Amino acid sequence: MVPHEKGERVPLTISGYDAKKGTVSFAFHEVGKTTKELGCYSEGQEILNVTGPLGNPSEIKKFGKVLCIGGSIMIAPLLLQVKAMKAAGNQVTTVLGARTKEAMIMEKEAKTLSDKVYVATDDGSYGNKGLDFLNDLLKKEKFDRCVVMGPVVMMRDVSAITKPFGIPTVVTLTPIMIDGMGMCGVCRVTVGGKMMFGCVDGPEFDGHQTNFEELILRQRTMLPEERLGSLLWETSGGCKCGGNKA
Ligand code: FES
Repeated sequence: MVPHEKGERVPLTISGYDAKKGTVSFAFHEVGKTTKELGCYSEGQEILNVTGPLGNPSEIKKFGKVLCIGGSIMIAPLLLQVKAMKAAGNQVTTVLGARTKEAMIMEKEAKTLSDKVYVATDDGSYGNKGLDFLNDLLKKEKFDRCVVMGPVVMMRDVSAITKPFGIPTVVTLTPIMIDGMGMCGVCRVTVGGKMMFGCVDGPEFDGHQTNFEELILRQRTMLPEERLGSLLWETSGGCKCGGNKA
C-alpha cells in the first residue's frame, strides 16, 4: 500500500473484506511515519494505490481441532482465519494476547467466531499472565494444527511450546519488505536451514523450522532510520492529507 505520491510502500495484512461492496480492511498500529500518515486519513479519502493480495493463500481445510493464537494488532487478520477455519468444519479455540487489558482488541468478535476463547496479557492485568498456560492447555487437549499471528517473539515462544506436543504450527512472518514481489531480497528469512523470501514463499511458514533469532535481528536493521523518519514527519507538521485527524 502506498498512501500518496511521495509515500513509501508498506506491507499490511488483510484483516477483512466485504465481497458485496468490493472492499478490503486493514488493521494497523500507528507506529511509524507511514502508518501515522494512514491513521490521519478520513473516511472517503483516497490513498494512492494498493497492490495485492501478494504471497500465498493460507491453507484452509478441515484439520479437526485448530488452535488459533493472535497477538496485538495481528488479532484482526487472525480472526479472518478463525472464520475460515470454522467454515471449513474445524473446531476452533482462539487465544488472544496483548500487553495489557487496555490493549486487548476484538474479544467480542473472537467469542462470536470461535468455539472457545482464552485471553492473556503480558502484565497479567486481564486473563492469563503470559502464554505459559498453553502448556497446561496442550496437556489437557489435543490439537491438530496451530496458527499463530503476532509479534515475532510471541510466534517464537508459541512455536517452542507446541513443538514438544508435535502440533504442526504455522506462523505468519513479517520481515521488512520493499517490493513484495521477490525482487529486492530484503524479506529474507531462514526456514528449515533454507533461505526463503517472506513475500513470495510466505507469509506463512512452519514455526518449528523458522530461525526467529535471525528474523528478530533483521527486523531491527532499519530501526534508527524508521525512528528518524517518524520524527522528521512529526516535526515537519505531521499530517498534511487534509483529513480530520491532526
Ligand atoms: S520484499 Fe522484496 S523480495 Fe520480498
